[in-house]
Amino acid sequence: MSLTVKPQTRAGAKISSVGAYVPPRLLTNADLEKMVDTNNQWIVERTGIHQRHLVEKGVATSDLAVEAAKRCLAARGIEASELEAIIVATVTPDMFFPATACLVQDKLGAKGAWGFDLSAACSGFPYALQVGAKLVESGVHKKVMVIGADVMSSILDYTDRSTCILFGDGAGAVLLEPTEEGEVGMVDFVHEIDGSGAASLYMPGGGSLHPSTAETVAGKMHYVHQSGGAVFKVAVRKMAELSETLLQRNKLTADDVDCFIPHQANQRIILATAERLGMPEERVIINIGEYGNTTAGTIPLAMHTALEQGRLKKGDTVLLASFGGGYTVGTTLLRWEM
Ligand code: UT7
Repeated sequence: MSLTVKPQTRAGAKISSVGAYVPPRLLTNADLEKMVDTNNQWIVERTGIHQRHLVEKGVATSDLAVEAAKRCLAARGIEASELEAIIVATVTPDMFFPATACLVQDKLGAKGAWGFDLSAACSGFPYALQVGAKLVESGVHKKVMVIGADVMSSILDYTDRSTCILFGDGAGAVLLEPTEEGEVGMVDFVHEIDGSGAASLYMPGGGSLHPSTAETVAGKMHYVHQSGGAVFKVAVRKMAELSETLLQRNKLTADDVDCFIPHQANQRIILATAERLGMPEERVIINIGEYGNTTAGTIPLAMHTALEQGRLKKGDTVLLASFGGGYTVGTTLLRWEM
């Protein structure tokens, strides 16, 4: 007996809506000066960060993700019940299981959707975007919600000045739909992981290797650990290298990119990467000053900033680039169709 082969559509996938949400509470550099041995000048000069938004106790990643998703749906004018899949990129799920995507699905009332979480730290959003795009491009789904959301304050040691000044909480969501006649949408991507960098940026406690115990907590193993200098150098080199590969194989140069939306980990990393690519600063979206590093949230939040500032228009060629724990590197090329 032969299986019935379903005809495949060959539509592309495009981002058709964007939503973003950050919690209202602010943690400024002045606040941090009272908590650890740091100062506003050091933080601004070394990172570009002025403030971050943090959740109140009891607010979790799914809550931020739901707010971003609601705004994304409202901007597109559709109901949550129309979603077919929800992918949540995060390293701070509400809990190990159920997946945050399940909690988001329930809170949104997205009755018809399936979904899952994707763990790729700061590259989580671009990785989830590709997976969602493939679901649309294959013809399997027509409405896929991709969310990048993290409550980094839940895994930070606020006595460690080398990490606590860097991160914030936030979420961004995009809707993926099939392209229409004449539209291009998602074009190409180059992703890379390198687990040899695992020990440079990680949270050692709470997993199957070191299940939570009084000892792991006393040893602060449930917090982010980072070798900042090592990560900095690889981040610049790899984001630039993969961006160049992606542009070259699509016969483009930095001059053809209208809007560069990089992961927001450090303003100096962003500017050094842009310089290597020969990308003028006015085409680079930077909002780290306001939000800090929200891990999976940074790129959709920066997309939202770009839209608000009128720096992202239909027909623009857009380059995304990310680097994070893993190591994970992601670069994505797309045509903006909104
Ligand atoms: O998104 C995930 C990927 N993560 C990243 O991309 C982060 C990459 N790394 C970085 O962004 C930077 O390495 C940091 C911002 C984390 C650190 O900046 P840096 O320029 O690499 O500083 P450093 O670690 O080399 O430290 C320089 C000095 C040290 O003092 P000494 O040894 O020179 O006396 C640090 O102790 O700055 C000191 N320092 C601070 N001083 C004031 C470190 N943190 C602070 C602080 N306030 N918060």
